[in-house]
Amino acid sequence: MSTDAIVLLKEDHKQIRKLFRDFQAAGENATARKGKLVEQILELLTVHTYLENECMYPETRRLLPDLEHDILESYEEHHVADVLCMELAALEPDNERFDAKTAVLIESVTHHIEEEEQEWFPKVRAGLNRKQLQDIGARMLELRKKAPRKPSQPSTLKKVIDAVVG
Ligand SMILES: [Fe+2]
Ligand SMILES: [Fe+2]
Repeated sequence: MSTDAIVLLKEDHKQIRKLFRDFQAAGENATARKGKLVEQILELLTVHTYLENECMYPETRRLLPDLEHDILESYEEHHVADVLCMELAALEPDNERFDAKTAVLIESVTHHIEEEEQEWFPKVRAGLNRKQLQDIGARMLELRKKAPRKPSQPSTLKKVIDAVVG
């Protein structure tokens, strides 16, 4: 099996997009099903973001300093998605804001994934050799074992969310 970092990250993206489509196709009243789908979405996004933040982004930044601008923008896009994920984790699926918040998460992550796949991955593929990408991928496979699976809730942020959502 290939451990090419870009191949691995694209596999994650594919699964995430599949869940997004399932959510969008679930219909108005499928509250329980949509709740389950969002749980799965939050888990996949939490793991994927962890692997990129802890390994793919810092390694790429170190090896390809020219891509720093893209990576800094990606960290910010992850941050926005993290906030939405934390809020969604604290929201019941029958809350009137649940579908709308999920729709915004889907929009924002879809945009981010498209930028990675269409603009960023090609630059990384051009800048790193096969061995470097396989080493990064192997490290991500290791990290995946201890990656968090639920959005974390730092206590101060949690308080803000409780105040807004609660
Ligand atoms: Fe990303
Ligand atoms: Fe990604």
